[in-house]
Amino acid sequence: MENKRYGHFDDQHREYVITDPRTPWPWINYLGNEDFFSLISNTAGGYSFYKDAKFRRITRYRYNNVPMDNGGRYFYVKDGDTVWNPGWKPMKTPLDFYECRHGMGYTRITGRKNGVEASVLFFVPLKTWAEVQKLTLTNQSEEVKTLKLFSFEEWCLWNAATDMENFQRNFSTGEVEIEGSTIYHKTEYRERRNHYAFYHVNTEIQGFDTDRETFVGLYNEFSNPDAVMEGRPRNSHAHGWSPIASHYIEVTLQPGESKDYVFLLGYVENPQEEKFVAPQVINKQRAHAIIEKLDTTEKVDMAFAQLQDYWDRLLDIYNVRTGNDKLDRMVNIWNQYQCMVTFNFSRSASFFESGVGRGMGFRDSNQDLVGFVHQIPPRARERIIDIASTQFPDGGCYHQYQPLTKRGNNDIGGGFNDDPCWLIFGTVAYIKETGDFSILDEMVPFDNQPGSEVTLFEHLKVSMNHVINNLGPHLLPLIGRADWNDCLNLNCFSWDPNESFQTTENKSEGTKAESLMIAGLFVVTGKEYVALCQKLSENSGKSGLYSKEAERMQAAIDAMIAAVKKDGWDGEWYLRAYDYFGRKIGSNECEEAKIFIESQGWCTMAEIGAEEGMVGKALDSCKKYLECEHGMVLNNPAFTKYVYEYGEISSYPEGYKENAGIFCHNNPWVIIGECIAGRGNDAWSHYAKILPSYVEEKYQTLHKVEPYVNCQMVAGKDAAKPGEGKNSWLTGTAAWMWLTVSQYILGIKPQYDGLQIDPCLPETAKDYTIQRRFRDAEYTITIHPNGSQKGVKQVVVDGQPIEGNTIPYSAGKHTVEVTM
Ligand code: BGC
Ligand code: NOJ
Repeated sequence: MENKRYGHFDDQHREYVITDPRTPWPWINYLGNEDFFSLISNTAGGYSFYKDAKFRRITRYRYNNVPMDNGGRYFYVKDGDTVWNPGWKPMKTPLDFYECRHGMGYTRITGRKNGVEASVLFFVPLKTWAEVQKLTLTNQSEEVKTLKLFSFEEWCLWNAATDMENFQRNFSTGEVEIEGSTIYHKTEYRERRNHYAFYHVNTEIQGFDTDRETFVGLYNEFSNPDAVMEGRPRNSHAHGWSPIASHYIEVTLQPGESKDYVFLLGYVENPQEEKFVAPQVINKQRAHAIIEKLDTTEKVDMAFAQLQDYWDRLLDIYNVRTGNDKLDRMVNIWNQYQCMVTFNFSRSASFFESGVGRGMGFRDSNQDLVGFVHQIPPRARERIIDIASTQFPDGGCYHQYQPLTKRGNNDIGGGFNDDPCWLIFGTVAYIKETGDFSILDEMVPFDNQPGSEVTLFEHLKVSMNHVINNLGPHLLPLIGRADWNDCLNLNCFSWDPNESFQTTENKSEGTKAESLMIAGLFVVTGKEYVALCQKLSENSGKSGLYSKEAERMQAAIDAMIAAVKKDGWDGEWYLRAYDYFGRKIGSNECEEAKIFIESQGWCTMAEIGAEEGMVGKALDSCKKYLECEHGMVLNNPAFTKYVYEYGEISSYPEGYKENAGIFCHNNPWVIIGECIAGRGNDAWSHYAKILPSYVEEKYQTLHKVEPYVNCQMVAGKDAAKPGEGKNSWLTGTAAWMWLTVSQYILGIKPQYDGLQIDPCLPETAKDYTIQRRFRDAEYTITIHPNGSQKGVKQVVVDGQPIEGNTIPYSAGKHTVEVTM
């Protein structure tokens, strides 16, 4: 394996530093926290959007292009005959120095060429609908430098899907306005849109371009745009075709002199009646206001400091010092950062998700918020209500919804029978973090229909009922279109390549397809539901109602456990499912895919058959049959041929994606199973295999994708290229890695009444200290493992030993000593 390195961690600044622009894949970062977002690669590629990457795409991007990662925000520096970009691309002029620092909500790209340094800081200030690009040009040479600077952005005509399709219309609709140093993009504003975008720079410009063909030249590329190569802007005004924005600035720098320019890419919405100030002339007041807030270096530096403060505060909530840098940097920085990103984007916009295909997933968002809830609980609360509002009265749910409209997505519909359980998973995590039971009284509609509102608690109840009301011949949950594994399409099978694996529901009547994964998920979330009911009955003082509900559900859980023990156990592991015809899936009797990971994870977390030794055996089978150098594969052996009645899973070549790839998302399920079983050594060794910082040094080139975040899938042992990673950033892996390490390995678990301390560690673990802000309390918790893998002997809070291992919640600062 090649030993080349492309970058390294800088923990002190919470950055990943990329030192070679030719990374094995674009290594990206996300800018923006709430409304205005950007994706930015290490060569400044990427795009921006407002809230919804499909419906409010601000700048254009071409996926999967030649060369890779083409289009973005580019600065061209023309120094004599040499033209270069600080981020290397698109000119690819060899630089004397290149560095990209991806940090928390910002990226700084620096290039140097022939004695000139160009450093650009990209970020989206808090509560601001704009991306700041602060460019600093420095003359590090001994001579006076006269430079020509061109900025470049390409506008997307808002709907990113039609922008790529409907050229017969698009080529006639594009419109811009130019006012001083600001270029406005107002396509479709004359009709139904009340929003426009702008690109501004805080200095006088000596020219501009807004028409792509004029600026680039029809048969040129971003690497030889006519205007730049000739050093002469055309002052073009776009009418239709492809509008862009480029400023032209002439810069003279004395030796040692440095100049800052603040570029702003902004987005504005106007009230209908304030759209225009004159016929066809857009009202620019709101744009002016944004510009005014950020038109000097000082103001921008202040906004940047605020962003850094914001991240300081967020990352202060849970902070560990173990003395192991690789672990600490993932726990304290990158894992939490990735959780915020997945919370924001679900599976919509990354360099593997086009932003046009998918909205917010029902199950995905519930899992994401569990990784995020400790950071900004009110946003998790809002998300829970939004998600629950897309549920149907029978407990089923839309599988996805659009972030802009918050409406269920009809293209995909519902029928994924694991979905309802995840609402309990998410809601319980929120209440445990915050102690805010009032969320259960919120009135929440079904399918967003006014008048259909019931309490959120009622939504949880119908969620549980949905499983109970949809049991199959073995009294196990019917799978519906699919459970967590979107590719195990036991009722959607078809020979027609034009039909979707996900929505071709040709065989739902009379199906016998049942899921052991949902069975385990039902038991885990069911136990949470029962505990919640018990808590509510304590809280309300009137025990009757809730304790009856607890009893009812406990009976259903007991029945499910019995069903799994009876018909869900294969001898050495849990079965995965029964297919449409009632045949076993994931059994020793099967020709291929004899064992699957999902049911091992969920049934061990549920501790089904622990007394009978099932849990231990299943965990051992994961080690024996699923584990490999890079993690645990999803199933084993891989499918080598397409199985018509299983669907998409067997469509993948061996070792990739759901067909025996290492689906990082579900490794933590087994790891948590290990933790619950008290097997700390095993839990840790599984965990370390998919911990990015552990993989970083070994696999800089093989792994390909960003070494600072988890990816969805690492090619498994049966793949042509084992260890190759794909689908980075937007994956439930982030939340699950967080839950695993924060609550199960390091062992700090929010409960309704306090913080439970229950670590599960490798024998080699040393003493460690965790700072945990929890509601209005702040705990400093030091754990002394004493070579033990599990089991807390004593907890001492502020000098007083307590009963049990749950620190009762009380506001204020506390010091806690834990002996294992
Ligand atoms: C992928 C799954 C994904 C599904 C739905 C499939 O092609 O393999 O991972 O969940 O599409 O988008
Ligand atoms: C990705 C999807 O977003 C998620 O919902 C699904 O559970 C996994 N793939 C597994 O198929």
